[in-house]
Amino acid sequence: MTYRELKELDNGILISHHFSADSPNDYDARGSTALNAVSREHYFALSLAKDCRRAALSGDEELLMRIYLKVLNAYERLLEPHFQFEETSLLPLLESVEIKPIAERSLAEHCQLRALLGGLRQRDPESLGSFGKYLTDHVRFEERELVPLFEELWN
Ligand SMILES: [Fe+2]
Ligand SMILES: [Fe+2]
Repeated sequence: MTYRELKELDNGILISHHFSADSPNDYDARGSTALNAVSREHYFALSLAKDCRRAALSGDEELLMRIYLKVLNAYERLLEPHFQFEETSLLPLLESVEIKPIAERSLAEHCQLRALLGGLRQRDPESLGSFGKYLTDHVRFEERELVPLFEELWN
């Protein structure tokens, strides 16, 4: 089993303590710790999404520039590793027919968010607003559907 290093964002918010496991049984012992980290990151992502939506509506160039940099930095350091953790360690565990659609929706929404990165890099306010909206919806969906599912699996 390997542990991903504990990381910190520039603003001091503590990020994940994710892990990857060779055997599914390892998740039983480590699962709740990883799930807590996922939820902490969701909380941060919601606040970031709010910044995106607010900046996109503001028309304030200085604020927009600050938020483009903030979101691209956070994307690289937190969101993309978070997506990858979910895609490689959590979603593959949802194999049964009834719960597979939850994994598929999470994955599709990651793709949707990744597709907006080009627009963010080109400083497109519409992409920033969409990124904020989709990220909010995505995190709410995962907190409502995905996290409780794993809590149930591991308890
Ligand atoms: Fe996700
Ligand atoms: Fe997530």
